[in-house]
Amino acid sequence: MAGFGIFQDTIDQDVYKYYADGEWKVSSSGNSVIILNPSTRQPQYKIQACTQDEVNKAVQSAKEAQSIWAKTPLWKRAETLHKAAAILKEHKESIAGCIVKEIAKPHKDAITEVVRSADLISYCAEEGVRILGEGKMLVSDSFPGNERNKMCLVSKIPLGIVLAIPPFNYPVNLAVSKIAPALIAGNALVLKPPTQGAVAGIHMVHCFHLAGFPKGLISCITGKGSEIGDFLTMHPGVNCISFTGGDTGIAISKKAGMIPLQMELGGKDVCIVLEDADLDLAAANIVKGGFSYSGQRCTAVKLVLVMETVADVLVEKVVTLMSKLTIGAPEDDCDITAVVTESSAKFIEGLVDDARVKGATFCQEYRREGNLIWPLLVDNVRPDMRLAWEEPFGPVVPVVRITSVEEGIHHCNASNLALQGCVFTRDINKAIMISDAMETGTVQINSAPSRGPDHFPFQGLRDSGIGSQGITNSINMMTKVKTTVINLPLPSYTMG
Ligand code: G3H
Repeated sequence: MAGFGIFQDTIDQDVYKYYADGEWKVSSSGNSVIILNPSTRQPQYKIQACTQDEVNKAVQSAKEAQSIWAKTPLWKRAETLHKAAAILKEHKESIAGCIVKEIAKPHKDAITEVVRSADLISYCAEEGVRILGEGKMLVSDSFPGNERNKMCLVSKIPLGIVLAIPPFNYPVNLAVSKIAPALIAGNALVLKPPTQGAVAGIHMVHCFHLAGFPKGLISCITGKGSEIGDFLTMHPGVNCISFTGGDTGIAISKKAGMIPLQMELGGKDVCIVLEDADLDLAAANIVKGGFSYSGQRCTAVKLVLVMETVADVLVEKVVTLMSKLTIGAPEDDCDITAVVTESSAKFIEGLVDDARVKGATFCQEYRREGNLIWPLLVDNVRPDMRLAWEEPFGPVVPVVRITSVEEGIHHCNASNLALQGCVFTRDINKAIMISDAMETGTVQINSAPSRGPDHFPFQGLRDSGIGSQGITNSINMMTKVKTTVINLPLPSYTMG
């Protein structure tokens, strides 16, 4: 079991501890939460079920630590983040090992996730030094009726305590994409890791612990959503929430107080393929975009909208590429692995059954063993089918045949999930016009949707989210503008 070596302090008997006040602790609840391995469906790990009292204590010590951290020179904050990044990279194998067992991510992708996370932390440290090291000065005489006797100094200050709630599919990367901006900006950070992925998160937090951040500045509170979920998100000590996940985000945003929110709640990312598209390129991107990590990415290709005239050729190319996908264990680096839980597998099956009953064309035979679902392309999907609108979050890609570009754009804009989308065409003018018409947070031209590189802005419209992410935007979002106005005596010539 991972958890030995430098991670020994994070585990007690066979239960992983929670982190608060600079220490790994056992919860007073005496209870634990079991994490099932998605591939074997057997218990893999146990984590502490923290209590509300433990949340209160973590928030209190975060508050104390933050007031000191906010006064720590920016270069020192950056230096500590660089240290955490180096430690994380050094331990990529053990952390990736947890990711493989907890969320069945293929081993090579789990390694990529950890390395990408370390790079994100370092980039964030550097970007923070650049953007937070700068302020602005305004003078008053640009506004009508004013003399030049006031100088306004503008700088950015931390918000206080940031609550980070990452999803299961990137338990390390989508945690550090919240942690690093919060810390460089001078905030404290409370992490509530997802249940599946919590142990990878605990290992990652230990790397921050070893880097030497002040005691209490970072905490990692594990447990049952029913006990500590609302309690954390509605906690009066929390000054900002950064959440990535599903519908829960909508409920959180309704309950949270008057604090900045950063929310990413999934996408029904469409892929529009025009007649003049490079169909080999489009097919390769549909397979990579639709099936990497078995479709469990908010930016996965979730619907192909292809012009009828090229649909047969495109579908054939996609099916040929899909036949090369390997299916099996994440430890063996298979392309398609078990989806995260049995309830996810059942949900996906429900969407597939609905399409079958309503007459869609299955390009492969539907097959499922436990949580492992074989990759499936469903052609001739129509708007009355659930697959046309809902996110399978699994290895199932629906195809809707369209007869005009307008039809594709209309379908894209009618969805309540509007994270990303993509368009394949050789005509750049057309691509730009379509991008302009697609009401989604990002449109990729001639490539599958994707969040990275991690300093690019990343945002969704409608139910896909609030605010914009990406390193620079996250740092800015986790700060507040502070102004100091210097009032000088009025120049004598204006005194009459
Ligand atoms: O699942 C949501 C992630 O933000 C997607 O990130 O495009 O790097 O896979 P990705």
